[in-house]
Amino acid sequence: ADPNRDKQIEAHELTAKLYHHLLMNTKQGQSALAYLRGRGMSDKLIDQFSIGYAPESWDTLAKFLDSRKFPLPLMEKAGLLSSKQDGSGYVDRFRGRIMFPIWNRDGKVIAFAGRIMGDGQPKYLNSPESPLFTKSRTLYNFNNARPDIRKRRKVVVFEGYMDVIKTWSAGIRNGVATMGTALTDEHAAILARSADEVTICYDGDSAGKAAAMKAIPMFEKAGMTVSVAMLPGNMDPDEAIEAYGPDAFLRDVMDHPVSAVKFKLIYLRKNHMLEEDEGRRKYLLEASKIVAELETATEREMYMKELSREFGVSMDALKQDVHAVRLTNQ
Ligand code: CTP
Ligand code: MN
Ligand code: MN
Ligand code: MN
Ligand code: MN
Repeated sequence: ADPNRDKQIEAHELTAKLYHHLLMNTKQGQSALAYLRGRGMSDKLIDQFSIGYAPESWDTLAKFLDSRKFPLPLMEKAGLLSSKQDGSGYVDRFRGRIMFPIWNRDGKVIAFAGRIMGDGQPKYLNSPESPLFTKSRTLYNFNNARPDIRKRRKVVVFEGYMDVIKTWSAGIRNGVATMGTALTDEHAAILARSADEVTICYDGDSAGKAAAMKAIPMFEKAGMTVSVAMLPGNMDPDEAIEAYGPDAFLRDVMDHPVSAVKFKLIYLRKNHMLEEDEGRRKYLLEASKIVAELETATEREMYMKELSREFGVSMDALKQDVHAVRLTNQ
């Protein structure tokens, strides 16, 4: 055991309790609490995810940690404090933000994400990389979701904190988030040890769709079967739940994920003018490449049938094109 590491974890645990207390029980936390309630967060949910508030002050946490005899340089290394410009001491890293604790696999707090209330930059301020916290290997909520993921061998991957929390409250117990940092091969490998299937449920905006396109081959490389739960318009899961309610979200989004191939075929549409012959020709060429990657002839035929129906081309012609791609790929 590394005593410095233990101290840093202990400090994170205590800090999370402090921020939660400030949110729930003090005047300073009132507007943050109102903000969270305005976003549909119940007290129960705030409690379950230990959400807190870092007050608009330079030294609330610094004083708190100092009074409990935590060495401040060690707290700076852990990402809880920042050193002053002139080197004369330490100030709180997080100020005036809603605080989401981030846990390791054992459920210990190892980092924080602080959301600004309302607009402003950065929207989320995260803990820096530290001896405790490696972003490329950390998945938000993995500690809570792991039993369900392992039991069902299935995981759902979201973009953000609020998505995980709101979907948890809607009954999804196998949801994690990559926290904006792009999915890494390490994330995929960690999830592949506990699950065989992954459903990507990223935001419906163009950034979310592009991120899903990137994530698909990474999960496949890790050996997982991938599907995508698509959101209406530009919404994210949190917004969809607020707009339509949890039941509609489960029924219309989570219960109808599309296969990775189907998602790629849908995504491919946005780059082609399907009203024009030339656009349709190019689309079908690219679509053939996607279909050609499928292992089994039956799977390939399923998608070719859909394309044949929609574009009014013969199965025979599609089969020839797909076959040609497969020959080239060999
Ligand atoms: N993110 C981040 N830093 C930012 C912006 C985003 O770390 N400046 C991460 C956060 O983990 C965030 C996720 O990327 O949850 C997804 O980003 P975005 O969709 O922009 O945020 P939301 O999760 O939708 O946040 P909110 O609902 O609070 O607006
Ligand atoms: Mn509480
Ligand atoms: Mn997003
Ligand atoms: Mn979002
Ligand atoms: Mn959101």
